[in-house]
Parts: sequence; structure tokens; C-alpha cells
Amino acid sequence: MTETYRDELRARFGLDLGLDGEVPDDAWLRRVLLRRTQRRYADRPVPESLVRLLLAAAFSASSKSDFQQASVIWLKDRVRRDRLAALFPDMPWIGAAPVFLVFVGDARRLEKLGELRGHRQSNRTLEGFFNATIDAALALQTCTLAAETLGLGCCPISVLRNRIAEVAEILELPDKVFPVAGLCLGYPAQPGFISMRLPLDATVHIDRYDEAGLPAVVDGYDKRRDARHSIRDRQRAPERFGTADFYGWSEDKARQAMNPEGVGFAAWLRAHGFTFDEPEPAPR
Ligand SMILES: Cc1cc2nc3c(=O)[nH]c(=O)nc-3n(C[C@H](O)[C@H](O)[C@H](O)COP(=O)(O)O)c2cc1C
Repeated sequence: MTETYRDELRARFGLDLGLDGEVPDDAWLRRVLLRRTQRRYADRPVPESLVRLLLAAAFSASSKSDFQQASVIWLKDRVRRDRLAALFPDMPWIGAAPVFLVFVGDARRLEKLGELRGHRQSNRTLEGFFNATIDAALALQTCTLAAETLGLGCCPISVLRNRIAEVAEILELPDKVFPVAGLCLGYPAQPGFISMRLPLDATVHIDRYDEAGLPAVVDGYDKRRDARHSIRDRQRAPERFGTADFYGWSEDKARQAMNPEGVGFAAWLRAHGFTFDEPEPAPR
């Protein structure tokens, strides 16, 4: 078994992944395997030229049909930024990060192209929404990897969708343009930590979807995670769920998911141009 990436894979998954056979050794891939979210930033400015470079990388991401349905709002104005940050007082990094970008799904521009070229179409379907979301998510992650490659740290911010009406007003979003996630960006103030991920046994299915082994795989993962970084003293809402003898990732996430997020987002999207209907069949 190859030793290449052994330490990085242990750091990410808490076990030996068992790569059979030789694989190319690459320094950038090592960084990807060790990547981590950063929420605290050094008091070191990020030059605008660097942000523009990262945005260029972001928009180099793949785009469905080359429709290019992602846009970014770069929040430079302090007043506007503070208004946005004030909506989320428990996430002070939204206001404190040296740079804050909002990656938006932009299903509007394609309709504008239709208007400009005299081929009017509607992009209000689930397909239109989904394609724009994916484009924005790919751009977000490409920006993140580019930033981390150059030693910056990032934190995506999807909580924006929990206050969609206020956020849309601050960003002056027109119909069919919606936030996928914000992105805090800056030089990290601390090393941060690598989140251990589920083993590929849980996330990769060969030839067909098969969840038969999930309970045992999750139990093992919970124990590995707990051994590295226990959260047993930070149990979520014990007054509601009780105090668990063993408190692992799966219990924590199951409890977290009991608090719905994004309430009102679907209604807001419907009020701002999306119907999520099936597309009309193409005229013959
Ligand atoms: C789409 C997306 C949205 C996120 N939204 C938030 C957020 O609103 N606030 C926050 O503090 N972190 C947010 N995060 C960061 C995650 O909590 C973080 O990625 C997760 O804890 C795993 O850490 P890692 O990225 O270092 O593996 C978000 C991450 C993603 C990918």
C-alpha cells in the first residue's frame, strides 16, 4: 500500500484509506486534503488586486451549458456591510472579515440575453434555479480553493438565506437573483482545525446506492471523531433532548437538523420570479 498522502488522509478521515497502488504525489492536493474553514482573521489587509485574482479563479469554474449563471456581490461599503452583519450577531466574522463576497445564483441574466437577442424565454423553472445554484456553488468553492492556495482562509455563509428579505433589500437583488452563500475572506489569525469526514464507505457507492452498512460506519466515525476532538461537554439543547452518555457527530447533527433553517426562502423565491414549474416542451 502506498504511503503517499497517508498523513493527510489520516488527518481528514481519521483512518488509513488504503490507496492501492501508486498515485501521483502533489503538493497542492496535499493542501486540499488538509483544508479547513477559517472564521478568525489577522489584521492584515487583502489587496483588491488579490481579490480580483480570486474572483477570476472563481469564474473559471465550470458552468452548466456555459450559461454562466453565477454572480458575486463584493460588499465594500462599510455601512451596507454593517447592516448585513447586524442581522447575524452570533456570527461576528461576517462583519469582521477583511473581505466579504456574496455568491448569488443569477437566473436573470439568461433571460436578459433572450430579451437582447429577441428570443424570449423564461428561466423560472426548477431547472433554471438549480443550474444557477450549482454555478454559484462551483464558483464559491473554486474561489475558496484559490484563496486557500495563496494562504488565505475562508468561511462560506449560508445563514444569509435565513433573513432573505432583509439581505435582498441590502444587496438590492432583483427578481431571479438569490444568495447561495456569502464568503468571508482574510489571512487566518490561527491554524484552525481539519474537520474529520465520513469514510468513503459511507459516501461512495459502487454501481448502486447501498446504505446497508451505514449504522456501523457512522458509529465508527463518531468514535474516531470523539477520540480526536470530543464535543460531549457541548451537547445541543439538553433541556429538549436530554444528556447523552455518548455524544458524537451524528447525535449532534441530528439535533441540529431539528432546527429548521431557510424558513421563508421558498416563499421568497416564488415571490421573486421562480415558479419551479416543469419547463415547457420545446416548440417543434
Ligand atoms: C454552503 C456552506 C454554507 C455555510 N454556511 C455557514 C454559515 O452560515 N456560518 C458559518 O459560520 N459557517 C458556515 N459554513 C462553514 C461550515 O460550517 C464548515 O464548512 C463546516 O463546519 C466544515 O468545516 P470545513 O469546511 O473546515 O470542513 C458553511 C459551509 C458551506 C459549505
